[in-house]
Formats: sequence, structure tokens, C-alpha cells
Amino acid sequence: MEKYRELEKKISERKAVIGVVGLGYVGLPLVEGFIQGGFKVIGVDNNLQKVKSLNSGKSYVQDVSSETIKKMHKTKRLFISGDFNNINKMDVIIICVPTPLRKSKDPDISYILSALGEITKRNYQGSLVILESTTYPGTTEEILLPELSKDKLKVGKDFFLAFSPERVDPGNRRFGIKNTPKVVGGITPQCTKLAGMVYSSIVDNVHVVSSPTVAETSKLLENVFRSVNIGLVNELALLCNRMKIDVWEVIAAASTKPFGFMTFYPGPVLGGHCIPLDPFYLSWKARTYDFNARFIELAGEINGNMPYYVISRIYEILNRNNKTISKSKILLLGMAYKGDIDDMRESPSLDVFKLLVARGAKTDYFDPYIPSIEIHGKKIKSIAENYSKLKNYDLIVILTGHKKYDYTKIKKFAKCIYDTRNAIKGLKESKKYCKL
Ligand SMILES: NC(=O)c1ccc[n+]([C@@H]2O[C@H](COP(=O)([O-])OP(=O)(O)OC[C@H]3O[C@@H](n4cnc5c(N)ncnc54)[C@H](O)[C@@H]3O)[C@@H](O)[C@H]2O)c1
Repeated sequence: MEKYRELEKKISERKAVIGVVGLGYVGLPLVEGFIQGGFKVIGVDNNLQKVKSLNSGKSYVQDVSSETIKKMHKTKRLFISGDFNNINKMDVIIICVPTPLRKSKDPDISYILSALGEITKRNYQGSLVILESTTYPGTTEEILLPELSKDKLKVGKDFFLAFSPERVDPGNRRFGIKNTPKVVGGITPQCTKLAGMVYSSIVDNVHVVSSPTVAETSKLLENVFRSVNIGLVNELALLCNRMKIDVWEVIAAASTKPFGFMTFYPGPVLGGHCIPLDPFYLSWKARTYDFNARFIELAGEINGNMPYYVISRIYEILNRNNKTISKSKILLLGMAYKGDIDDMRESPSLDVFKLLVARGAKTDYFDPYIPSIEIHGKKIKSIAENYSKLKNYDLIVILTGHKKYDYTKIKKFAKCIYDTRNAIKGLKESKKYCKL
């Protein structure tokens, strides 16, 4: 009980040293949250470029500006390092490393294992370890707990362990760390209590659940919910296209229902680090229980086919204008996976780009947030902002509806537009203007 009391006191007095392992889209805003909360924070990342950048006051995450990084350094409570020996100084160790999928769509938890390896090599007695990376149900109990319990250390007594999913929505100005409730599940009641205390210091609402596994599953439910509903509305978009019904008008009408309906939009781009990947963490685990998670697989199939649907529409639109794809110049607007952000991880805009190039189309892109992309090892730069040049393209395809785009100029200069995002309001479908 002694170690529990010690840590409890340190957290309540804001004297606990908060460690964040993995300083990306999730870790960096968390660092900011704890600095604002008055804690001393040590951030560790194995990418030394990132460490160097943060130590020179430069951010690489849109939601945390360079100004903010500099302000945090001024508090003298922020330490950024690539040296894992800093783990020895941490009272709370929060793991925010990536959890991608392997090519086979199986979970790749190697980053968690590597971070865990760095922790178990060091002194974490009396510390609270929290996993925030999205992962399959059971990871904390089946993987982290046995490793951390080596050397006869007892959870709830010698160290503490919990899972708390991250819900950050990059680019969301309305909901950030403070006003997004945090779900927390510890291995023992002591672990849950301490983890709840840590987050209560910086978050308005903490929702406690009975185990890390429930917390892990709740995060996956949230993302499966989005993936399945986007899959549903994507399928409806394909049907509406065939029936010549405007799916956007249908959605706008259904959205007026004040209860029992939640609006989702179709699109070519279901990207980001979460929605295209996380559901497969659950379906993989389900298979180990001889259970086939059909909704997840079906939504994955429908959403994964959207880039191919977009290509077939591009063929059709060019054909209507007496053009062939191999002799056309096409400009893609938007490489980021969603509007107004600079994140292009898992962005199917890249798939659309590759599919067009493979079909012989001369393809360029313009995205004010993404200066360059890499296709088959080749660096391709975004064209410069010059709307009058749009008239040089046979087709402009809007893949991401950034607010920064000047849609009046796009309308003025484009010969033909394929607007997969309903970004241009008030235009009727025609030979020169087509929607998803
Ligand atoms: N990005 C989001 O919107 C979001 C939202 C909710 C949850 N998540 C989840 O949070 C986790 C992290 O995602 P992210 O978007 O921050 O990823 P990211 O790639 O932006 O950041 C991860 C960071 O971890 C570092 N790293 C990798 N291995 C490490 C190691 N062994 N030790 C120390 N640092 C290491 C990387 O260099 C990188 O800076 C993932 O599980 C993701 O699914 C992400």
C-alpha cells in the first residue's frame, strides 16, 4: 500500500513526473495537456529527428503549434529526449506508440513491445504504466501485465497498470483533450484509481470501467461504429448513383431528424491512422474465438473499394466529354485523408493517384497541407497555388474538401469537375460537373 499512497500523494499535489513514450499525433497533445495541468513532463521518442525538432521549438503536429512548444519549454517543466533511461525518473509512463496492421491485416503490436522492452529494462517500481495506443481486447492483460510482473513484481502493489484509449480527433477545434471524456480501466482497483486521478487532473470527465479489456474494446466499438456507418452510406451512394438520385440531398434531408439518426458522409477517402485499421484489430481477435465479425469485414470491403469506384466514375466522366483516360491530364485536389488537416496516413487519395498513373493519365495534385508525396519511391510535389492553371487539365477531381480551396475560382477555371465531397454547393449535375 505504501507505493500506492506515495503515488497518490504525488499525483494529487501535481508532483508526479509524467512520462509520454511516443510523441506523435496522440503523444504530443497529451504532453501539452499535462504541462498545462502543472506537471513536469518527460517526452521520449525513438525518432531522434522528432526529438531534435521539438527541442529546437519546432512542431510537426498541426494541433500543437511551434509557439506552444516554445511556451512549454519556457515553463522549464518540459524535457524531450531520445534517451530511454529517463524512464527511471517517470512516476507515470504513458505509451502512445503506433499500432499499424501487417500486410495480412493482422495487428502489428511490435511498437508496443519495443516500448515495453525499454520500460522493463529500467526501474518502474512504484510507477503507473498506462497504454493509450489503440489495440485488440486483452493486450494490456495478456501482453503488458506478464512482462511487467517479471521479477516477482506485483501489480497493484509494486507497480500499477491501466489502459486508457486516446480519442483525439486531429483538426477538431471543438473537442480537445480537456472536454473529451476519458475512459479508464486498470488491472486492480488501485490501478484504476491512480489512472483516474492522473487524467482527472487535466480532463473534465473520466469514465471508469471494470478492466483494461473493457476500455480497449470500447475504443474499438467507437471506430467500428464509424467504419460501419461510413460503409453503409458509401453503399447508399453507389446505389443512388445508379438510380440517379442525389445522395447528398438524401443525407441532408435525413439529417433533419433530431433523434435516432446520425449523419455520415460518403467519399473516396476513408483514411487516417484509426478508422481503416482499428476495426481489424477486433476482427482479428474475434477469429481467435472462432467468431467472424461480419459487419467489420463488409464495411472494410465496401470502403476499400471506393477508390476503384472513383476511377470507374473518372472513366465515365471523361468518356462523356469524348476523352480517354490515357490521353487526359487530371488534377487531384486533396491528398490529406480529411479536410483541413495535414495528415495523409492511409489516405486513399494516394490509391486514386496510383490507379490513375497506372492507367496512363498524366496526374498532378494540389494540396496546401501536403507539399509532397511519394509514389513507388518517387517524390512528387504538389503544384503551386495558381487557379488559372486549372484550365490546363481535362478533369479536376476534388478528393478532400479543404476549406482553404477557392471554390469560386475552381468553378471559374476548371473545364470539368468531379466533386466527390459535395464541396461545391449549388451546382447541378451536368456533363461538366459530376458528384460522387
Ligand atoms: N492519430 C489519431 O488521430 C489517433 C487517435 C486516437 C488513437 N490513436 C492511436 O494512438 C496511437 C499512436 O498514434 P499516433 O497517431 O500518435 O502515431 P504517430 O505515428 O503520430 O506517433 C507515434 C510516435 O511514436 C514513436 N515511436 C515509435 N516506436 C517507439 C518506441 N518504441 N519508443 C518511443 N517512441 C516510439 C514514433 O516515432 C512517433 O513519433 C496508435 O495506437 C493510434 O491508433 C491515434
